[in-house]
Amino acid sequence: MKLGVNIDHIAVLREARRINDPDPLQALGICQRAGADQITIHLREDRRHIHDDDAAAILLHSPLPVNLECAVNGEIIDFVCRHRPLRATIVPEKREEVTTEGGLAVTDKPRGLREVIRRLHEAEIEVSLFIDPHPDAVLAAKELGADWIEFHTGRYANIHAMLYGNLRHTRHSIPELELPRRELKQMLAEELEIVQRLAEHARGIHLRVAAGHGLNYQNVAPIAAVEAIEELNIGQSIVARSVFVGLERAVREMREMIG
Ligand code: PXP
Repeated sequence: MKLGVNIDHIAVLREARRINDPDPLQALGICQRAGADQITIHLREDRRHIHDDDAAAILLHSPLPVNLECAVNGEIIDFVCRHRPLRATIVPEKREEVTTEGGLAVTDKPRGLREVIRRLHEAEIEVSLFIDPHPDAVLAAKELGADWIEFHTGRYANIHAMLYGNLRHTRHSIPELELPRRELKQMLAEELEIVQRLAEHARGIHLRVAAGHGLNYQNVAPIAAVEAIEELNIGQSIVARSVFVGLERAVREMREMIG
């Protein structure tokens, strides 16, 4: 299983103080030493963490392939086409959200998205679409000409956190998931089964499959065991752990956990 380390969260810490420290650029060599396969960054429309100069420097200096996440936004797509990462992952974006809350709306196959995929391909950039694990979304991604899909594992992660993690009965609890454990167990098994089945289906129609969002040291193993998934992109949990054990160990532990 390939590991993409999403280093946005290092820039989140920097922006909390609006200074130059910690610099996400310094994470590149550490991630490589610790066995990561890819660096993932998200250039958000509001530039709340990664800025254009970060992305340009990361793309120039990264010893690992870079997966650049971005929205369907003309100005950002211009930037991506100019700087040519190995892959661009198209994500939905709402300014008011704390993080990417769900998958891209692909089932209507919007013209804007089709045009963005065409432009990225013209610049020889692989295209991944960040979608919810839903059969219609997989088919639409294929019809739109994506090379990759990335399944949004947020629902899986939320159910897991409410069942086994530390969210239940806290101020970060998810009200619609305040359910009996038996029900949550069933939902978790179903969600995993959906991801597994759709990943196999996607691979069968020649889409490459990644997954990410909310994956952590507690919940990652069953997703990492899905054979049709090639790659996981993980940010928050790795950077959170790095505060206590250092980035190299945090990445290495995740690397070992996902096999
Ligand atoms: N993959 C995509 C497409 C994302 O947007 C994100 C969140 O930035 C991640 C993976 C990583 O999610 P997390 O930070 O929850 O591990």
